Amino acid sequence: MRNILITGGAGFIGSHVVRLFVKKYSDYHIINLDALTYAGNLENLRDIENRLNYTFIKGDICNYDLVKNIFQEYKIEAVIHLAAESHVDRSIKDPFSFAKTNILGTLSLLQAAKNYWKSNLNNKLFYHISTDEVYGTLGNSGFFTENTAYDPHSPYSASKASSDHFVRAFYDTYNLPIIVSNCSNNYGSYQFPEKLIPLFINNICNNKPLPVYGNGENVRDWLYVEDHAKAIDLIFHKGKIGDTYAIGGCNEWRNIDLVKVLIKTVDKLLGRTEGTSEKLITFIKDRAGHDYRYAIDATKLKDELGWKPSLQFEEGIEKTVQWYLKNRDWVDNVTSGDYLNYYKEMYK
Ligand code: NAD
Ligand code: TYD
Repeated sequence: MRNILITGGAGFIGSHVVRLFVKKYSDYHIINLDALTYAGNLENLRDIENRLNYTFIKGDICNYDLVKNIFQEYKIEAVIHLAAESHVDRSIKDPFSFAKTNILGTLSLLQAAKNYWKSNLNNKLFYHISTDEVYGTLGNSGFFTENTAYDPHSPYSASKASSDHFVRAFYDTYNLPIIVSNCSNNYGSYQFPEKLIPLFINNICNNKPLPVYGNGENVRDWLYVEDHAKAIDLIFHKGKIGDTYAIGGCNEWRNIDLVKVLIKTVDKLLGRTEGTSEKLITFIKDRAGHDYRYAIDATKLKDELGWKPSLQFEEGIEKTVQWYLKNRDWVDNVTSGDYLNYYKEMYK
């Protein structure tokens, strides 16, 4: 058995990565460490939770003693680190929790890995999952690549940039075998409905306003979450130690155009007349420090490791909307309690 620690495995992307690894690699023992914050939900992993090669541990990555014990008890040989505070709007309201989890939490894992692996670094890997937001913002042309200089603008992206720097510093200083990947915006099943796509699908279903920030012209490059999980699998097994990989969907959308695709898809699947829900679009005050455009050039990943997205966007969106419509209970569960306070406060 190869013992692999996946952090944040009860979250959106983490649950897809855990599912992929548990199902695909019966000779790996996957240990999922997750604090189960508002964004983490064990419902996301019901289908695999009883597998023999899977263990869940509820805990905080900032708790160094806990992390150190997990390395020892489970003889951890590799880490895929996804646990993070991940929502830009929340980072604007509460930057401290982002600095704590994203920077200090990452440091706690790095230190535990370094001390446990010591000088026996054979077959060890610390794989850090990061975001393209560390590169800042683009104008109307150009793309982020692995060589783009860091220029984060939100407390979220600043905390992720800092964590990336710590990971690289452990490689440069202690030879810790690391890889970093920086991915564009993900969409798909099990995403917490505070991010644009699941929030808007839910609001269209419930005839609630669709709060578009600013003029809706900001651009994001959207990747289907299962394609990100496949890229992580490939990079974990074939990536070069010390390298960075940029992952992106080659799929840019202005927010307002994306919202119209969502409206069209939800209305169609609910049997409503086309365009019924366009009246829900509501332009609101722009997000502070709102990055204009993100777009990734994933040539390195394609050329060196042979990765490419498997889905066309329209197909991915239709699958995603279908999933949210079929899983109303999941949506209702995660949007009860604290979510209602968050929503009121955020969109008052
Ligand atoms: P998410 O918010 O859905 O999930 C984060 C998970 O981490 C949750 O399960 C949460 O309980 C857990 N967590 C939070 N704080 C923790 C702590 N202190 N200790 C242990 N667990 C903790 O996030 P996501 O969208 O799945 O993102 C996962 C990773 O991928 C993050 O590192 C994020 O920066 C990165 N990323 C996300 C996107 C995206 O579009 N969502 C794109 C690129 C990179
Ligand atoms: P989001 O899903 O929060 O991802 P990120 O900010 O990390 O890219 O937002 C995607 C885009 O949608 C971003 O430009 C902000 C915009 N947006 C809105 O217009 N309204 C909303 O209610 C939300 C959550 C996002």
